[in-house]
Amino acid sequence: MSRSAHPAGPRHADVLTEGHYSAPPADLNSLDPKVWSSTVTRDKGGELTVGGLEVSRLAEEFGTPAYFLDETDFRARCRAWADAFGRDADVFYAGKAFLSRAVVRWLHEEGLNLDVCSGTELATALDAGMPAERIAFHGNNKSEAEIRRAVEAGVGRIVLDSFQEIVRVAHIAQELGTVQKAFIRVTVGVEAHTHEFIATAHEDQKFGIALADGQAAEAVRRALKLDGLELIGIHSHIGSQIFDMAGFEVSARRVVQLLAEVRDEHGVELPEIDLGGGLGIAYTSEDDPREPHEIATALSEIVTRECSAAGLRAPRISVEPGRAIVGPTAFTLYEVGTIKPLEGLRTYVSVDGGMSDNIRTALYDAEYSVSLVSRTSDAEPMLVRVVGKHCESGDIVVRDAFLPADLAPGDLIAVPATGAYCRSMASNYNHALRPPVVAVRDGSARVIVRRETEEDLLRLDVG
Ligand code: LLP
Repeated sequence: MSRSAHPAGPRHADVLTEGHYSAPPADLNSLDPKVWSSTVTRDKGGELTVGGLEVSRLAEEFGTPAYFLDETDFRARCRAWADAFGRDADVFYAGKAFLSRAVVRWLHEEGLNLDVCSGTELATALDAGMPAERIAFHGNNKSEAEIRRAVEAGVGRIVLDSFQEIVRVAHIAQELGTVQKAFIRVTVGVEAHTHEFIATAHEDQKFGIALADGQAAEAVRRALKLDGLELIGIHSHIGSQIFDMAGFEVSARRVVQLLAEVRDEHGVELPEIDLGGGLGIAYTSEDDPREPHEIATALSEIVTRECSAAGLRAPRISVEPGRAIVGPTAFTLYEVGTIKPLEGLRTYVSVDGGMSDNIRTALYDAEYSVSLVSRTSDAEPMLVRVVGKHCESGDIVVRDAFLPADLAPGDLIAVPATGAYCRSMASNYNHALRPPVVAVRDGSARVIVRRETEEDLLRLDVG
């Protein structure tokens, strides 16, 4: 199991953060297919290629740091999820992981739906031609303007997150002379991260309406009464970077229990449930994620079993994977700058990016791996900490890893599995210019999000 295991949400006291690196890998030059996208390999000269293109040429053309996104792998993952869930279920890609117009077009072409959680994510989706009925609109504090925009556009579902919002959405839909399809997001009392889940007391958070104390049942009661709403289902999202299906099992059981209560009280069988996202990926070789078909089978078995026990027709299931689709498809390419050996400790390797392009290590103690990619090396492994160029000692990209001892300034190193929540959470700290996202496919590379420029930054600063 990967060591510091909390990529999202508040940290638990039992999460280890320091000095828990494993032994160096047997071969520092090998590229573990678990953490690299499917077209990544080393060419005869030992250089890493993606989509058939060498990283040195990519660095020359697009600069560093930069995210390289393997479009072939992205599309294959979309298809794997769509195929695994089949016609009786819906896969919504969670755009918060990484969203751009190109990505929206790929999703559309591969038949996926899209979950957005802000007016501007919605605008991006619509601008790139995602049909509104295939969009789900989320958020715990949607503004009236955002709700109006979503209803006007005709989004397929709005996920209602509070009592106020139930009324607000119903009112706006009525004003616009329409009926909005909606889900109610409930908190099921489960919080899951990586290999663990905790099945008590996790109502203490800002999302959703608690199942406990009949709150969610009351929300359903109110929503069913309002003319502007068509309540079609219950939504639950339990956490992030989850490998173990036990949390989903508890969540599905509790959601189905609510469906049964709704049937008993109102004589209505809500036709859908959404079990959210949160499925884990491999950031290091120690992580062992599930394949989409295993997840689909497990979820559908759980829901079918619970429904037949409750005497309900099995509802249509949706899921919302973000990280599991885009995470493994990209790596960040950096150029090595300074190298500082600290006797008896480790060697600090500074790169030309840092916490502005990957905040996850600093924010969640997330773990990453790193490889020398512009060449191979037979040198001994050295324990390194890859750090950025920001004015902050927490500016760490990879906390503990091994790189060859002959690493030198100017070498290119790459951090795999940075497709999710890296560009989308990137910042301009120290006036860093956010790196581009370059899509690579079949021997060609194109910028899908360009690098920010000094002019971009200065234009915002109106003096
Ligand atoms: N659906 C809902 C309602 C969500 O809140 C999320 C993530 C997802 C789906 C997608 O989850 P995924 O499959 O990508 O784990 N910034 C954090 C992750 C925050 C996730 C928030 N919600 C990180 O970098 O780990």
